[in-house]
Order: sequence, then structure tokens, then C-alpha cells
Amino acid sequence: MRVRLVVGNWKMNPRTSDEAVALARAVAAMRRDGVTVGVAPPSVFLRDVAGTLVGTSVVVYAQDVHWEPKGAYTGQLSAAMLDGIAAGSIVGHSEVRRDQGDDDARVARKATAALRAGLRLVYCLGESLAQRQAGETGIVIRRQVRDGIGAIAAELRDPARTVVAYEPIWAIGTGVPATGEQARDAIAVLRRELDALGLDGADTTILYGGSVSAATVGEFARSGGIDGALVGGASLDAEEFAAIVAAFR
Ligand code: PGA
Repeated sequence: MRVRLVVGNWKMNPRTSDEAVALARAVAAMRRDGVTVGVAPPSVFLRDVAGTLVGTSVVVYAQDVHWEPKGAYTGQLSAAMLDGIAAGSIVGHSEVRRDQGDDDARVARKATAALRAGLRLVYCLGESLAQRQAGETGIVIRRQVRDGIGAIAAELRDPARTVVAYEPIWAIGTGVPATGEQARDAIAVLRRELDALGLDGADTTILYGGSVSAATVGEFARSGGIDGALVGGASLDAEEFAAIVAAFR
């Protein structure tokens, strides 16, 4: 079943727990009817933010999770550590792929660990500028779906727990979002590839991410086939984030 979902990915912001908690309170106070809203705070603030959001319907996500249950993995978080704190995790974000060297196989392992621990997923994928300019967008998306999501197909017993975010790398943090048409076309390719894997593309919740703002969200919210947004920079401003959520209501 598809849902309308808007997730704020706070990345390596805000700077203090007080700031994070204040932002979480503002998100909890927003009109959210018809839209599921999530926040992904830095891991050091997860517990404080989760505590603030107890009793609300705002979903807390980790920004990443490791595939191993425990051990010598400096700087990483296991899915088990998120128990009782986060309801889900983002995996496959292009910044993690870039900085940690994750490839589709590793993202699939992370996704598997998260799903086995009962977490929800926002599974990110998308092409680089060079790939788009070379006319390879469709090829890249199909490969990422096949090698990543295809590898976890057996774990997707409850498809409602896994949401896919199409995030063209060239649009992330640049202030230059994809057009509604570019996003719609890429997401159509994504749904077809899910179908080809025997997963129900038409029934999968798919978000767009990359420079979504109050000014640009309308193009995505109105464009058929886009169920919500993964929002970085604009999620740090409560008013702006509220306007983005409102666009999907
Ligand atoms: P942005 O980030 O909205 O700042 O472009 C989106 C994301 O990385 O999820």
C-alpha cells in the first residue's frame, strides 16, 4: 500500500541536542493529516529526539545502519542499537555511498540487517550528473534497483516497510532540483524495474529527494507517481518543512 511520506534528513545538523529537540517539537506540532512525517536526526541526538516524540505519530529514522549485529566497526551503529529509539533507517544515501564507499551490495546488506531487526527503510538511489549527461539515467536506476533492492527481495515480506527515495546526486544540496518531469520519468523506470523483479512497483511508496523546498515542492507533489519527499536542507527550518508537508496533504 502506498502512503504519503515526507522525511526530514537532518544530516550533520543541528549542532546541539536542544536544537534537535526544538526542531522535533516543531515537527510534532505541524498539521500532518494524511501525510506520515519522519525525521532523521544525527545519531548522537536520536535518543533525545525519540524521547521528545513519544506519543506523537512522527517517525524517527537513523541516517544509516551497519550490516553487522556487533563488533569491531568503528563509528558505526547496529540495527539492534536502534531498538526502542528509531523505527527505521535511511540506507544507500549518496553521501554515505560517497564517504563510506557503500555500493549496491553493501546497501543491500544494510537493508537486510535493518529489515530483519524490524526497522522500516528509506532506500535511496539515483544517478550522478555525469551519468545523466551520458544518457545513462535509466541504466543506472535499473542497475541500482536490481543489484540493491533485488538482493533483498526475499526480505520484503512487508513491502509497506520499505520506501524508495529517488535522489539524483546532482540535485542534492545544490539548490537545483530535478524537474517534476525528470523525477516522474525516473520513478516510472524504477517502478517498472521493481515489477520486473516480481515486486509490485505500482504499490511501492516512492519519494523524490534533492533540493526540495517550499518553492519547488509543488512540482513534485502535483506530479503523478511521487508519493512524498526526502528533504535535507529545507527540513532544518520548521516553517519551510511544514510547507513541504502541506504540499503532500
Ligand atoms: P537536500 O538533501 O534537500 O538538501 O538537497 C536531500 C537529501 O540528501 O536527502
